[in-house]
Amino acid sequence: MRTLPSRQVVLARHIPGLPGPEHFRVESVEVREPGEKELRVRTLFVSVDPGTLARLGGVDTYAPALAPGEVIASAAVGEVLESRHPRYAAGDVVVGAWGWREHAVVGSQGLRKVEPGPPESYSAELGVLGIPGLTAWFGILELGRPQAGETVLVSSAAGGVGSIAGQLAKRQGARVVGIAGGPAKCRWVLESLGFDAVIDHRAEADLEAAIRRACPGGVHVYLDNVGGSTLDATLACMASKGRVVVSGLVADYGVPPSQRAGLRNTPYLITHRLRMEGFVVFDYAARFDVARAELRQGLRDGTLHHREHVVEGLASAPAAFAGLFRGENFGRALVRVA
Ligand SMILES: NC(=O)c1ccc[n+]([C@@H]2O[C@H](COP(=O)([O-])OP(=O)(O)OC[C@H]3O[C@@H](n4cnc5c(N)ncnc54)[C@H](OP(=O)(O)O)[C@@H]3O)[C@@H](O)[C@H]2O)c1
Repeated sequence: MRTLPSRQVVLARHIPGLPGPEHFRVESVEVREPGEKELRVRTLFVSVDPGTLARLGGVDTYAPALAPGEVIASAAVGEVLESRHPRYAAGDVVVGAWGWREHAVVGSQGLRKVEPGPPESYSAELGVLGIPGLTAWFGILELGRPQAGETVLVSSAAGGVGSIAGQLAKRQGARVVGIAGGPAKCRWVLESLGFDAVIDHRAEADLEAAIRRACPGGVHVYLDNVGGSTLDATLACMASKGRVVVSGLVADYGVPPSQRAGLRNTPYLITHRLRMEGFVVFDYAARFDVARAELRQGLRDGTLHHREHVVEGLASAPAAFAGLFRGENFGRALVRVA
């Protein structure tokens, strides 16, 4: 059997707090030939996802925890080198979840074939056309459901999910306010994404006051990617009958429960008749194709903008992952593997 020399990044040990280089190990491996109904793929891009941190800390989320020695889980897009599956051929480009590996042998379950295009176009399959874009889609259109004239607030507005969420809310006729870290991200959110206002959370001593100023009529829909003190500040600024859509809690990831900011403003849930709902985007998998087709159309006709933060080489993935929790990514964080 002809094996292929390759590399992969595995969990060296569970991550108790925030990630560092000591938690990862790059391994050299031989990747076997595909068996019946399997493909061997060469990875082009892998994703770097903040939500994976809990699993790397040994905690089961909606997906199981990883054990030391396991390959880091992520979305991936790659080119088929050899196929023993009737629906795939060498040269096809596929999206799957084989994680931080240069090559992999995969089955067809959960695999999606991508329309051929220039190599640089495939990264979007893990960003605006992948889980972040879909999370924005269902978070805004299914759960937040902004009406024309309502105010939508989006945290991590320059990130993979937030940048798309705000644009989708604009399309519904909402007034959209973003929260992002630093002047460059804030400028992009305003000037390139067309948000109506933006708050630099790193420059504001009193975030609640800043939200009140930017959202004088209250927040009707809050699409939250960060949780923590940002979520608490926003609860106090919600309009009556507002909807808080909890996509993610980056500020709380890697922080022990006793040290999290916690929520002090829960009385607003009652006085303002708020609805607060978390969701897992995979629950909408049956409708991914429809949502993805519309997101793709937005890219084609130039009405949807996106940005990718691409680092080079599989060995850079752990540092890119750690950088998510310091706001180092500007747009969807990805690693170019080949
Ligand atoms: N529910 C679902 O099914 C689902 C699916 C996918 C992703 N998600 C969630 O969606 C969220 C966004 O994911 P993404 O991949 O698009 O990541 P992202 O927003 O592109 O990257 C993370 C960003 O979070 C911000 N951040 C980090 N630490 C922070 C802190 N302490 N306080 C405030 N902001 C902080 C930083 O932006 P600034 O520099 O602007 O602060 C950083 O760049 C994550 O919480 C993720 O878990 C949920």
